[in-house]
Amino acid sequence: MSQSHSPAAGRSDQRERPAAHAGRPIVLVGLMGVGKSTVGRRLAVRLRLPFVDADHEIEAAAGMTVAEIFDRFGEPYFRDGERRVIARLMDGVPKVIATGGGAFVNDDTRALILDQSTAIWLRADVAVLAERVRRRDTRPLLRGKDPRVVLADLAAKRDPVYAQAHVHVASQRGPHEATVAAILRALKGEVRA
Ligand code: S3P
Repeated sequence: MSQSHSPAAGRSDQRERPAAHAGRPIVLVGLMGVGKSTVGRRLAVRLRLPFVDADHEIEAAAGMTVAEIFDRFGEPYFRDGERRVIARLMDGVPKVIATGGGAFVNDDTRALILDQSTAIWLRADVAVLAERVRRRDTRPLLRGKDPRVVLADLAAKRDPVYAQAHVHVASQRGPHEATVAAILRALKGEVRA
């Protein structure tokens, strides 16, 4: 089910329940700033499914923000918590899960997501991502750095990994609702030229 879809205006505001994901969780993967949380929350409403943000779950489990975890314990500690939290979230209950940008890069996490869910890669140009990440200064990998350089570097390394996701959806400049509509079409198996 590897398909590419471009966002376009949604056809209706009605809630929908596409069949293609067949009761499996839907997991959004992709780089920082692509809109996984915002899109995921809206997608969940449209599908009448619960929404879970994996980074928020990690923060709740640790009692600290992601930035504090990086500062106090380092990235490997965060990655270990991320792997454990996502394994817990993959409990077979249908839901929409937004993952942090590095989660799918972990071999165990990726294998689990690919086996037990419908993985959706939200992709966008680095220029678009760099613009969006400026809205929030809480991301430890970007602190004190040029986001375009970091994001271009991460894209080069991670895009081949994200590409293993079952469905690929482009997120362009403009409203996230267009991306939600594109995902809904992808889940219904409608192929756009
Ligand atoms: C990270 C992305 C972040 C967060 C952490 C590391 C990454 O999540 O998990 O700062 O490695 O790309 P978002 O993708 O939601 O910003």
